[in-house]
Amino acid sequence: MITFVLYDSTKHSTKKMNRLIKYTYVYIILLMSLALYSCSKEAGSLKWDTTNKGEHRTLTVGEVPVKYTAYEKLIYVSRNADTTYQYLNIYVPNNLREENPPIFLRTYCGGYMASKAKGPSANDATGYALSEGYVVCIAGNRGWNSSINGTYNGRAPEPILDLKAAVRYLHYNDSIIPGDANRIIADGTSAGGALVALLGASANHSDYDLPLKIMGAADSSDEIWAAVSYCPITNLENSDMAYEWQFCAINESRELSERQLLLSGQLASQFPGYLATQGVTEAQIDFWIRKHILNAAKKAYDEGQTISPKTGISLADTTIDMTALLHYVAEAQPLKTTPAFDAYNVANKHATFENKLFGSVQNKDQNFTEFAAHNQLEGNYELGDDIKWRVRIMNPMNYICKKNLKCKHWYIRYGTLDRDTSYPISILLKHKLFISGADVNFAFQWDEPHNGDYRLNELFEWLSKLTR
Ligand code: DHB
Repeated sequence: MITFVLYDSTKHSTKKMNRLIKYTYVYIILLMSLALYSCSKEAGSLKWDTTNKGEHRTLTVGEVPVKYTAYEKLIYVSRNADTTYQYLNIYVPNNLREENPPIFLRTYCGGYMASKAKGPSANDATGYALSEGYVVCIAGNRGWNSSINGTYNGRAPEPILDLKAAVRYLHYNDSIIPGDANRIIADGTSAGGALVALLGASANHSDYDLPLKIMGAADSSDEIWAAVSYCPITNLENSDMAYEWQFCAINESRELSERQLLLSGQLASQFPGYLATQGVTEAQIDFWIRKHILNAAKKAYDEGQTISPKTGISLADTTIDMTALLHYVAEAQPLKTTPAFDAYNVANKHATFENKLFGSVQNKDQNFTEFAAHNQLEGNYELGDDIKWRVRIMNPMNYICKKNLKCKHWYIRYGTLDRDTSYPISILLKHKLFISGADVNFAFQWDEPHNGDYRLNELFEWLSKLTR
């Protein structure tokens, strides 16, 4: 009986099983076809529309009219989360410098805020690039302040994902779009400079693949050829230490509480430990800072500028009174208070751009370093894994190594009068790139505050000499 039932039921269930397998099989095939169909539809939507003839325009750059064709509002993701920002514009000069010239990709991201793709400007690198016959691309991105119906959609890592998606769009359409996607030159300043550094450092890294896939970025390379980074506000999780290491003795322009003074000392004393993780000593970084400042002052002097004694610089002795120089910097613009990036007392609305960048989609400002999380007025807490991951994938320093380095050409500038971050940040970026085999054109710019796209003749001369 038992055998019979068993036998019968097995027979019965075998039949059922076969049917189930058959239906499951059909169902899977259907699902796959649907997925393939929708993928091909999505991919299709990222294809450059060859019927788009663009619009003819003229931009006067230094009194010279530059004629070009504008192709605008090209959406670079198939699942567009924010039509205000997730698109790029392409400008093709009539006089191309070569048949298929490099593409000059500019981001206007500042303060890690959302940035719309605008038109080329006669006053910055975009106009200069057009007049030099480069194809110009300007990409928008979401940032900490972009929101739809109260949901903040541009918190980290979205700004870098948007720019990577824009780069992928250029590669994906390389055979159709004017310009050579294998020679993309990305340019940005400050937060934009940091994002460009991250584009270069993390090109084609698999850490970004899944989020890029989810947002509907093209399935193509996100490699860039050259990174042009002015005053990058980068390496955010280590910037507080570096800032206090540099500025802890310069407190007249920032009113720090007793507690902040204590934190300033603690942060400063932790910096050599971070330097050691980069294989750098305090003596080395001090030497490099002085060297780059003296080089900048010497160049300015040779060009006819006066180097005021107030700056603490003696070109004759090649020495710097660093305290005098830092007071000179702090006089030009008040220093940031402590901690400079991951603010103290975030819960009580003392948030920085960075606390907003790492904030929540519900607009809650958040700490992003263990130090700040442990030193809040209210509460002492551990950072969650999610925020740790977001911080990690926003930092180019976590990606630069010989094995990974896809972007070989780097142009990095930092002003000696810049107080938005500290000298070691760009020097350490340069150092890591250099030991990883990159071609790095690095300099401090004398008396330059937090600024970008200056000395464009120098930049474009360097660009014109780059070889594949
Ligand atoms: C920018 C400036 C900052 O001081 C900062 O902390 C982040 C970004 C900027 O100008 O982009």
